[in-house]
Amino acid sequence: MSHCRVCSSPLQEFFDFGEQPLSAAFTEPGDRREQFRFRLAVGACPDCSMVQLMEDVPRSRAVHEGYPYHSSQSRVMRAHFEETARGFLARELTGDDPFMVEIGCNDGVTLATVAGAGVRQLAFEPSGQGGTRVHRAFFDAVSAREVRESEGPADVVYAANTVCDVPDVAELFAGADALLAPDGVLVFEDPYFGEIIERTSFDQIYDEHVFFFTAHSVRAMAERFGFELVGVERLPVHGGQIRYTLARAGRRRPAGAVAELLAEEVASGLLEAATRERFAAAVGAIREDLPALLRKLAEEGHRVVAYGATAKSSTVTNFCGLGPELVPFICDSTPAKHGKLAPGSGIPVRPSAAFSDPYPEYALLFAWNHAEEIMAKEEEFRARGGKWILYVPEVRVV
Ligand code: TYD
Ligand code: ZN
Repeated sequence: MSHCRVCSSPLQEFFDFGEQPLSAAFTEPGDRREQFRFRLAVGACPDCSMVQLMEDVPRSRAVHEGYPYHSSQSRVMRAHFEETARGFLARELTGDDPFMVEIGCNDGVTLATVAGAGVRQLAFEPSGQGGTRVHRAFFDAVSAREVRESEGPADVVYAANTVCDVPDVAELFAGADALLAPDGVLVFEDPYFGEIIERTSFDQIYDEHVFFFTAHSVRAMAERFGFELVGVERLPVHGGQIRYTLARAGRRRPAGAVAELLAEEVASGLLEAATRERFAAAVGAIREDLPALLRKLAEEGHRVVAYGATAKSSTVTNFCGLGPELVPFICDSTPAKHGKLAPGSGIPVRPSAAFSDPYPEYALLFAWNHAEEIMAKEEEFRARGGKWILYVPEVRVV
C-alpha cells in the first residue's frame, strides 16, 4: 500500500500504466542492456486530496541526465518567463534591496530578466547550469539555510515545473521557511490536474511528475507546513498550468481567485472518484484508437513520423505499444537526443531537419503542449497537404 507523501494516508489508486521506463532514458542504438522499469500508477489521497504517483522512483535515476529543458528554444516559453520576471519585479521585488531565488532555473530566462533589472537573484541548480548565479545544490533545509546566512532572506522563492517533481515536500517547505522573509512568497507553477482531466492528457503522467496539483491539494499541503494559499493564476503554457502563490499563514489576504478556483473544483467534480473513473475510461479509449489509426495509415501505405521527443511521449509510446514499425522516427530540436532511441519504444530520434526531408503525410504531435508554435512554424507541412495527428483529448486528425 502506498501512502500520501503529504499526509501519510493510504492512497486510492485510479490508474495503472504498467511497467514503464524512465522518460529521460534515451539509449544508444545497439545498447541491448535491459532498461530500468517501474510501475507507473497514480492515486489520490482520500484525506488531503493530493493526486500523486503510487510508486517512488529512485531519485538518482529520475534526475534529468543530460536533457535539461531549454525553455529558450521555445519562443512562447521564453516570452512566458520574461513576463513572469516582470510580474515579480512589479509586485514582489519592490523593497530596498530585494532578493529572488529560483529552484531549478530551466535555462535561466526568468532570473536573467530579474538580474537585468538590477535585482539580486540566485538559482538552486544541482547541475550548476543555466543561471547567472547558481548555488550548486538541491533546494532543501540545509542548502536554504546556507543561502539565508550568506545572502539574507528572500522575497520570492520561485519554481517552474519543479515542485511537482519533488517527492519530499516537507523538505521543500522547510527550505522555504528557512529562506523566505516574513512576508516573502513561495510561488510555483506546474501542470494542473483539472486540465489533465479536462483534456485527458494522460501523458503528463510519467516518472518525473510526482504530484498533480489542484487548488484544494495545494491549500491542504500549504496548511500542513505553516503556509497559506493566497494566489492562483491560470497559465496557458505546457497544456494548462496553475501558478500557486503561498505566504506564511496569516501574513497575506488570499486573492478572490483562490475561492473561485476552489469553488470551481467542487462544482466540476474534480475531487470525486467518479471523475477519475471517467478519466480512466477515456485513457483506455485513446490506447485503443491511437495504435488503430496508425496501423490503418500504415496499411494504406501512408508515411507517418512523430514530432517532439517529449518526456510525455514515453508514456504514450510505451502504454499504447507504439514502436518503430508504426512510428519510424521522432524529429526533435534537442541535439543531445539526436541519434538516440526513445525510452522503451526504441523509436529513433532525428534532428528537426529530418521532418521536411521529405515531409511525411501525417505527423504525430507528441509536443502538443507547443502545438500553436509548432503548427505555425511548420506551415509548409500543412500547405503541402500534411496532417497532424493529435491524441488528447481524443485521437483525431487535423
Ligand atoms: P517539453 O515541452 O519539455 O515536454 P516534456 O516535459 O514532456 O519533455 O519538450 C518539448 C520537446 O519538443 C523537446 O524535446 C524539444 C521539442 N521541440 C521541438 O522539437 N520543436 C519545437 O519547436 C519545440 C517548441 C519543441
Ligand atoms: Zn494526503
